[in-house]
Amino acid sequence: MNIIELQNKIVELKKEKDICILAHSYQAHEILEIADFTGDSYKLSVDAAKATNKNILMCGVRFMAETCKILSPDKRVFLAQPTAGCSMADQMDRQLISQIKKMYPNYTVVAYINTTADLKTICDVCVTSSSAVKIVNNIKNKDILFIPDCNLGNFVAKQCPDKNIKLLNGGCPIHACVNTDDVKKAKELHPNAEVLVHPECVPEVVAMADYVGSTSGIMNYAVKSDKKDFIIGTEISIAEHLQYMCPDKNFYALSLKLICPNMKSTTLADVYNCLAGKGGEEIMLDDATIKDARKCIDEMIKLG
Ligand code: 13P
Ligand code: SF4
Repeated sequence: MNIIELQNKIVELKKEKDICILAHSYQAHEILEIADFTGDSYKLSVDAAKATNKNILMCGVRFMAETCKILSPDKRVFLAQPTAGCSMADQMDRQLISQIKKMYPNYTVVAYINTTADLKTICDVCVTSSSAVKIVNNIKNKDILFIPDCNLGNFVAKQCPDKNIKLLNGGCPIHACVNTDDVKKAKELHPNAEVLVHPECVPEVVAMADYVGSTSGIMNYAVKSDKKDFIIGTEISIAEHLQYMCPDKNFYALSLKLICPNMKSTTLADVYNCLAGKGGEEIMLDDATIKDARKCIDEMIKLG
């Protein structure tokens, strides 16, 4: 089967099986083409909860599929590629954070959405890269323990100077490996380009950017901007998708190191196999995990 035939089969099967396909913006172009909803991690889980289909297929990483299950417990949620974890979400677990919470008993624990469902059960409020600053500002408590990403946490702390934010040493190894030399080189090659970066990048890189935002934030900014050239400091797919969306503009990857192997492990064949019942994994969470993790996500919706 060629790509078009495979895509047509997928479209037929998703109708037949009443499955809504979600694809994170870091997925490949041919996967976005067959998705019902695309976007950042937060938007996808909200879209999934609103969809009327009985089943959801996530093309993304495990914590995103778990978030969908927490928000839509009555739907069957599948992850197209079972090995697709998130290196950041896998860095901290419930046992570790339970111990750390004992050291900071009066702190509000703010968890980036890139955390496991199990860890979310002991956190107070969730944030996404697009909502973190607003939510932290809206928390009454001055003392915040922000997990797991110290780079996003650092960005939030700068925007929320009235808060006392304690960070741990976690983060995204993909975004964190871009450095100021990479930015200088990209600017030399494309002197008229604006630099747009994700807040998972290190503070020195964030400080050199013209715009800092989530994957959706970066895409919206670039689409609306009057500028023509952009250096994109997040997973390499975003530059590619933007090039399709805005053929009259020019998009350059900040660094070729910005490839997430977790996100890129899902193929169109995985999507087909999952729909055909020959692959993928159904996300199973027990009722207590769903109930407790949901509190932290509901708090995000309330404060966001
Ligand atoms: P978004 O919340 O911007 O979709 O980011 C998710 C992610 O994994 C970034 O690396
Ligand atoms: Fe996780 Fe980083 Fe990949 Fe995002 S880019 S899914 S944070 S490993």
